[in-house]
Amino acid sequence: MNSKTPSESLTSMAQVMQITDANTAGFVHGGSIMKLVDSAAGVASMRHAQRRVVTAQVDSLSFHAPVHIGDVLSLTACVTQAWTSSMEVEVTVYRQDPVTGDRDHTTTAYLTMVALDEHGRPTAVPGVEPDTDEERRRQREAETRRKARIQLRRDLEEE
Ligand SMILES: CC(C)(COP(=O)(O)OP(=O)(O)OC[C@H]1O[C@@H](n2cnc3c(N)ncnc32)[C@H](O)[C@@H]1OP(=O)(O)O)[C@@H](O)C(=O)NCCC(=O)NCCS
Repeated sequence: MNSKTPSESLTSMAQVMQITDANTAGFVHGGSIMKLVDSAAGVASMRHAQRRVVTAQVDSLSFHAPVHIGDVLSLTACVTQAWTSSMEVEVTVYRQDPVTGDRDHTTTAYLTMVALDEHGRPTAVPGVEPDTDEERRRQREAETRRKARIQLRRDLEEE
């Protein structure tokens, strides 16, 4: 199976935040943003694997700035590293007020997605072949996060 570059899975999405995404004070729910993050990660990992995928784990998801009704949310997702059947996807989210142009980085998230075969079982995915120094850095960091995940699971099992 031929490896793929991160840019082959690169996915961009944009959506205007509506009243139904927000609370009565006009702030968008974290869950509305999480749903879009999950969708973007799903598309990026399907592009990489060319298979159906499921979300196995949301490894980290932080909100750096609030999002309001009327803001345009722009999401970018790409596969940073792939193992046997699992892939790490990085999703970055920016909010922009389309009238003032005011723009903030609001979220970075890392998700582990698993490719499934036609029987719904985990199946092999192509490796990741980075093209740029930035992509190589992301790949190294993905390995560090995976090691930390595995170690945490072991530590919790031993308790
Ligand atoms: C994710 C899932 C397919 C894994 O199935 P499984 O039978 O446990 O598979 P395995 O133990 O063989 O693991 C398969 C891969 O998933 C990874 N994986 C499994 N559970 C994981 C978790 N909680 N976090 C991160 N990776 C996980 C394994 O590390 C392995 O990766 P690798 O093949 O690259 O080494 C299964 O647990 C599942 O279907 N979960 C529900 C997914 C779901 O419904 N998501 C929400 C809607 S999309």
